[in-house]
Amino acid sequence: VLAVAVAFVLAYLLGSIPTSVWYGQAFFGVDVRQFGSGNAGATNTFRVLGKRAGTVVMLVDVLKGYTAALLATLLGQIGWITEDHILIFKLLFGLTAVVGHLYPVFAQFRGGKGVASLLGMVLATHPEVAAVCIGIFLLVVLSSQYVSLGSMLAALAFPVLLLMRAFGQKESPLLIVFGFVVFLLVVLTHKKNISRILNGQESRTVLIRLRKR
Ligand code: G3P
Repeated sequence: VLAVAVAFVLAYLLGSIPTSVWYGQAFFGVDVRQFGSGNAGATNTFRVLGKRAGTVVMLVDVLKGYTAALLATLLGQIGWITEDHILIFKLLFGLTAVVGHLYPVFAQFRGGKGVASLLGMVLATHPEVAAVCIGIFLLVVLSSQYVSLGSMLAALAFPVLLLMRAFGQKESPLLIVFGFVVFLLVVLTHKKNISRILNGQESRTVLIRLRKR
């Protein structure tokens, strides 16, 4: 029990690493939360600090969710959690890292929207589902030029794909519920983006900037 509690704390601390804020402060002397969408995430880092910074932040943020989920594998290997509990703990540790990303103890609890870290979690639990989600994300972003819309539809694809896998297979209904909770979480973190999309104010600048470079 203690080991699991420690792993939860570690997952939260890992997710709390405010990659975009620290990267911006270290290399540009700015807090990305004061520019662009004001979000402490990879998209806004692309927008404010450019391609290289955005890529680094995205990779690190994905890695946060992925590594947190892998804590479950580690505990499984040591024998502190049983084989059939590894998946559930991967999801729980991954989600805890996402909570850390949203409310980082190292950055005044003002973090990002959790998309990259969620992707890391899904990569650790369902890599083939993650691959399809990435495909959907790219399709939506390329066609709409809204990163936020791509994030939300990719997040919707996660439970839908799990549901499709459930037919014929014994996929736990709880997992599918979890998937929809994750989708809901992403919608909630994108509330401002949704109203900006609806009134035509959402930024499309990321791709324009990428094209210019
Ligand atoms: O992953 C975050 C993205 O979906 C939206 O970011 O900065 O445009 O609000 P942003």
